[in-house]
Amino acid sequence: MTDIDRKTARDAEARRILATNDRGGYTVPNDGVYPFQWNWDSAFVAIGFAVYDEDRAWRELETLFLGQWADGMVPSIVFHRESDRYYPGPAAWGTHQEPPTTGISQPPVAATAARAVWNRSARSAESRARLTALFPKLLASHRWWHETRDPDGTGLVTVTHPWETGRDNSPDWDAPLAGVTPTVDVSALRKDNKVVDPKERPTDDFYNRVMTLVEEAKALNWDGPAVARNLSLRVCDIGVQSILMRGDRDLIAIAEELGLSEPAAELRRRLDRSLAAFGRLKAPDGSYRSLDLRTGLHAPAISSGSMLPLYARALSVEDAADAVATLARWDEAVPYGVPSTDPAFPGFDPLRYWRGPIWLVVNRMIADGLAGYGYAAEAKRLTALSRELVLERGFPEYFDPRTGEGLGGRDFSWTAAMWLAWLSDENAASILTEVRA
Ligand code: DGY
Repeated sequence: MTDIDRKTARDAEARRILATNDRGGYTVPNDGVYPFQWNWDSAFVAIGFAVYDEDRAWRELETLFLGQWADGMVPSIVFHRESDRYYPGPAAWGTHQEPPTTGISQPPVAATAARAVWNRSARSAESRARLTALFPKLLASHRWWHETRDPDGTGLVTVTHPWETGRDNSPDWDAPLAGVTPTVDVSALRKDNKVVDPKERPTDDFYNRVMTLVEEAKALNWDGPAVARNLSLRVCDIGVQSILMRGDRDLIAIAEELGLSEPAAELRRRLDRSLAAFGRLKAPDGSYRSLDLRTGLHAPAISSGSMLPLYARALSVEDAADAVATLARWDEAVPYGVPSTDPAFPGFDPLRYWRGPIWLVVNRMIADGLAGYGYAAEAKRLTALSRELVLERGFPEYFDPRTGEGLGGRDFSWTAAMWLAWLSDENAASILTEVRA
């Protein structure tokens, strides 16, 4: 097959995956492992749909916000329809929402996605109306992070559950989870490790601890401020913090586009406060890492999350150069792109989910960050490596950084979306939305 044939075949396959995973207004990440609507998956999928179906792109976001809570939180999963193929389902979460949802959130990509969809849209009266209707919901979700999840107004937001970070079993959460005493044993209830090789999934011990956190929150009736102050895991995730700040920037741009000066000024104040606090995430070695808010300790490893401050445009030029040097070191250790954990870290595991594998949505954000700081060649290289992974291996959930092998679920929606919106066109700009450092 020529390169052009391979590309054309992947274009068609990516669209087929999104069509197959479409449940009417929302897309499941993958039918076998994740049969509901996931928050950040959907935001990335909307960016993919925007390439060829504007209406469907807006709908993906609109349907996600049907699950938004009255306090502004956008849950990590919306259980629009029943399925017995996933644990933990609505009964385990006990949030009593309609539609049923989990009780935690996920990295707030939605504002950036809405801006990306708008940028690709026809900019018709209807495009504007749909952006206008989404805006207050996006604003409420950003307020929820900045207020409910930062009750003392420090500028850094708290996550209370590893699943809230999207980087579920990253070594970032090993020490914070060690402080959670398991009170449940859910190993027999799991379904994920029946459809995916258990070596590529989190351990039973991890599940027992994270489900203990769910029990703690249930005992607090999922009251937002009480959860933020009392759960036995409370961390500032370098990933969520960065994605929120990037989202703030994109939401400010949307507010300006819509002529909404007061919300724009409010978001600017919130962003400035976060930027002022960001130095607390700098570890003694100069890298940026997650911070355990209970113990004051930084995460033990540099992770792919440590590169997301580039995406947030939260680093000085010197700190950005340090992050780029770290990426260059990793590049020598593993040939296929950015691993989720420093390959030199003893807990690096190239197969196990967020402890080593490559995730294309993270590569996308890092490439954006590199380009935003003027590292055009590095952004291009990461784009080329990511493109080659899909050309060679198709659309798995994640990839082994040593061999490029596809891992986890197959026919994955967000991998397909990243192909469509980013990798299919070799010369496409690396910048997701116009945000310069
Ligand atoms: C899972 O079930 O692994 C999800 O990532 C949780 O959101």
